[in-house]
Amino acid sequence: MNESSFQHWLAEQAADRDGRGLTRRLAPADVAGLLDLAGNDYLGLARDPRVVAGAIAAAQRYGSGAGASRLVSGTLSIHDELEREMAAFAGFPAALAFSTGYHANLSVVQALADPDTLIVSDAHIHASLIDGCRLARATVIVTPHNDVAAVERALAGRGRRRALVLAETIYSVLGDAAPLAELADLVAAQDAVLIADEAHALGVGGPGGRGLLAAHGLAGRPDVVATATLSKSFGAQGGLVLGSAAVREHLVNRARPFIYDTGLAPPAAGAALAALRVLRDAPELADQVRRNAAVLADAVGVGRPAGAVLSVPMPGPREAVSACAAAAAHDLRIGCFRPPSTPDGVSRLRLTAHAHHSDETLAMAAKILRLVVTAP
Ligand SMILES: Cc1ncc(COP(=O)(O)O)c(C=O)c1O
Repeated sequence: MNESSFQHWLAEQAADRDGRGLTRRLAPADVAGLLDLAGNDYLGLARDPRVVAGAIAAAQRYGSGAGASRLVSGTLSIHDELEREMAAFAGFPAALAFSTGYHANLSVVQALADPDTLIVSDAHIHASLIDGCRLARATVIVTPHNDVAAVERALAGRGRRRALVLAETIYSVLGDAAPLAELADLVAAQDAVLIADEAHALGVGGPGGRGLLAAHGLAGRPDVVATATLSKSFGAQGGLVLGSAAVREHLVNRARPFIYDTGLAPPAAGAALAALRVLRDAPELADQVRRNAAVLADAVGVGRPAGAVLSVPMPGPREAVSACAAAAAHDLRIGCFRPPSTPDGVSRLRLTAHAHHSDETLAMAAKILRLVVTAP
């Protein structure tokens, strides 16, 4: 393709996006006076002095980068420390750290599935798990959201193939919880494996923020593998896979996004470790997020969510964008999700609750939300 046809193609793509009201734009969030109800720093730890100090101490001790892939010379003792403490917290025998949650999800699916595996995937799982399915080149059956009977039918019809069931414990955009007990019963009965993404649950759901798998007594089960991110409740950057020692060893040997990627940066590992220790000492932070989420849910007239994420369906993408712009005019940042990020084609506002927001801040946010957001 020569340069002019390339530029023409880019312009056509942009015009198509604009025409459908789907153009995305980057906007800095570090603006004085802006109230953030869109981000995922649920416990307010990204700027907590103890967490920032953890990042600084790790940078001073180990350097600003890991310097190599984990299998070359990029494994540092802070990785071991982080993996051990995170596994113990979430109730799993072992953990493996990745440079992002995205990498953790790509890895777990690519390494645990192959072209002979059946993957049964909820329609609303995160893009990183979908991309993991593509990397694995497995057969995928997408089931309607939280439809356990559809998962059962897919598993029952698979013959002798190995099977993985993919779910998020709290869904990132819809904010609802997966039917974990039923899914876990099903994988046990069908000799399958449940891969559950705890990205929006760890730090927010379960006892002291230990996640929904722990809440259901499923953490540590050999047929349950969890993934998590360090970039949301833990205020840092990075990802985790939590499972048995055998799963960890398999991923170290087979997961391409782990093997061919530089190890998690020490400041991110140090920050996440510090955040975990803050949460262990203050388990009430998780309750505080859910309490604040209930206040916001009441303000916009939707049901109280399972964790920090509230989903407000809107009539269309333009209405969603207008509501976000109206909120921004009041210095309130809320999330806007439109197709193709929403698999059911419904445009939504996504609001997130945070442990550190005071009653006064919440009352102000609720007042603005009542003005600019009206759920259909
Ligand atoms: C459900 C879910 N899984 C995984 C990820 C990826 O995590 P990270 O941002 O650490 O790459 C996200 C992030 O948006 C997410 O929402």
